[in-house]
Amino acid sequence: MKTNLIVFGTRPEAIKMAPLVLAFKNDKSFITKICVTAQHREMLDQVLEFFEIKPDFDLNVMKPNQNLYSLTATIIEGMKPVLEEVQPDYVYVHGDTTTSMAVGIAAFYSGAKVCHVEAGLRTFDRKYPFPEEFNRQLTGKIADYHFAPTILSQKNLLQENTNSTNVIVTGNTVIDALLFGIEKVNTSNFKDPEIENLKETLDFQKKIILVTGHRRENHGQGLLNICSALKAIAEKNPETQIIYPVHLNPNVEKPVYELLTGISNILLVKPLAYAAFIWLMEKSFLIITDSGGIQEEAPSLGKPVLVTRDTTERPEAVEEGTVILVGTDTKRIIEETQKLIIDKTYYNSMSMLHNPYGDGKATSRIVNFIKEL
Ligand code: UD1
Ligand code: UDP
Repeated sequence: MKTNLIVFGTRPEAIKMAPLVLAFKNDKSFITKICVTAQHREMLDQVLEFFEIKPDFDLNVMKPNQNLYSLTATIIEGMKPVLEEVQPDYVYVHGDTTTSMAVGIAAFYSGAKVCHVEAGLRTFDRKYPFPEEFNRQLTGKIADYHFAPTILSQKNLLQENTNSTNVIVTGNTVIDALLFGIEKVNTSNFKDPEIENLKETLDFQKKIILVTGHRRENHGQGLLNICSALKAIAEKNPETQIIYPVHLNPNVEKPVYELLTGISNILLVKPLAYAAFIWLMEKSFLIITDSGGIQEEAPSLGKPVLVTRDTTERPEAVEEGTVILVGTDTKRIIEETQKLIIDKTYYNSMSMLHNPYGDGKATSRIVNFIKEL
């Protein structure tokens, strides 16, 4: 019997790996162990709870305001005893985080086959997003099997001379998770205090603008510009309600609370658990974000997205016109938001429901591929 070790550490990895964890745990033809690095803590635990995942190993590495040097080193060292104990045939890592890259290196040292989920996305600029583009490219070099979400990500890998038989287009598991999540949230016996609280706090007669942001390259001036834009949008449009679940990174939390506290139609809240977040996305008029995962989820919910970045490794929805890259220029963010608020036809053209990132069957394609090896 083959042994799988699935490893993740941050909120988005946990969401996108959860469907794979559930599928492999239910499949008795494999032994499957779960390890979390806990690069994130509270934001990871929220996801584990929603998907009812109990890790077999928890490296518990998160430190306040951690840096990339010690994070990388601690994860590689922490993985050694786990890999020695489990002796996996396959180690699964996800995407572009420090956890993915460091676990990929450790897994390679152990001799296990490395399976890269969400492989092949590229901006081709190693500094943008930082350090994620580099992490993803490096993980691609380490990996034996590459689960590419789209044809474009497959093409990127083939251009880098990756062995084509080991590159599989699967769709993105983020859509599998979203479909599972929406169904769970909409079942009649699902009660969530966070959702109840949002129902009481928010005025849904207003246009809800949902905001998130955390990218390292936006820390400092970029984030200040975004906050200035949000303040101006709130003041110009009293009929809108901005809600901003603020990422726990102190480089984000501190300036956002300093600049945006006390504005009547801006609500700053702690990161929402996945259930409340996807519920709120469905209720939103517009999403302003630099998040990778949200760029993928929003088209499946028919929500327009303004992305506060200059480039994206997820160009599919930009090409189809439901996502616009607005960068961190205050004036541009205000102008694009105003256009969507004022021009209904334009708004409707950007609210198209489409699924460029997956059909909800990525997990079964990955499991079937591994079974046939
Ligand atoms: C990380 C990933 C990024 C991913 C993002 C998702 C890297 C280099 N960055 O960025 O690719 O898009 O997660 O959110 O891998 N913190 C807490 N509690 C938490 C989570 C974070 O307090 O549950 C605070 C801590 O002070 C921590 C800091 O945030 O040190 C930064 O966390 P880190 O994972 O290093 O960076 P992110 O900006 O979250
Ligand atoms: N998300 C969440 N609560 C929040 C904000 C986001 O559960 O308050 C979810 C969101 O639905 C998406 C994922 O977290 O699936 C995105 O994570 P993040 O933006 O932190 O990372 P990225 O996708 O940019 O790597």
